[in-house]
Amino acid sequence: MNLSARIYLREIDRKFLAQLRAIDCACLGDFWSLEAYQREIDNPSSCVLGLTTENNELMGFGCLWAILEEAHITVLAVRPEYQGQGFGKALVWGLLKKARDRHLEWATLEVRASNHVAIALYESFGFKEIGRRPNYYEVTGEDALMLWCKSIHTPEFSRLLEQWHESISASLLSKGWNL
Ligand SMILES: CC(C)(COP(=O)(O)OP(=O)(O)OC[C@H]1O[C@@H](n2cnc3c(N)ncnc32)[C@H](O)[C@@H]1OP(=O)(O)O)[C@@H](O)C(=O)NCCC(=O)NCCS
Repeated sequence: MNLSARIYLREIDRKFLAQLRAIDCACLGDFWSLEAYQREIDNPSSCVLGLTTENNELMGFGCLWAILEEAHITVLAVRPEYQGQGFGKALVWGLLKKARDRHLEWATLEVRASNHVAIALYESFGFKEIGRRPNYYEVTGEDALMLWCKSIHTPEFSRLLEQWHESISASLLSKGWNL
């Protein structure tokens, strides 16, 4: 008997706005307003990728902007009660796949220098530090690290995406989640 719960990685629409905001407030300290998320959903140059349960509960999400050849990851968050199980990995994988499918050539993002969990997550997909923006975050004055993942349009990267998909799915399945 298969007791695993189905979960889905998918581009999400306006019916998830309230849940996007709730996760934003819980994980990102009120980063984007409801209107900002609405603009992201409506903007064809943006991708808002969600991880949902069968009952349309939003477990986490990530966003990217397509800017010329670049995929800029703007937001990533997993609902606190779901953190540490591999869902962040599934979301980064999904964003990189979306970027590859749009024929973008590299991915970039900014991350707080103290956010070791997120930095380790991005590094596991090949992101490297390419610079630092001093005092980037207004309230704390903390530096941002600029990370870059190159050559996402190459056949080698597509092979890596397949391998990561297998290992992420297997790891989630071992915890009872069927991606
Ligand atoms: C960052 C975040 C999205 C990660 O999501 P998650 O579902 O907890 O992450 P995962 O379970 O997929 O873990 C992925 C990797 O992150 C790292 N990681 C996760 N939890 C960690 C911990 N407690 N300590 C150190 N590294 C950790 C590991 O490298 C892990 O890979 P591994 O399991 O193969 O070792 C989530 O913690 C979050 O929403 N944080 C608040 C918002 C935020 O910081 N967003 C990033 C902004 S750039």
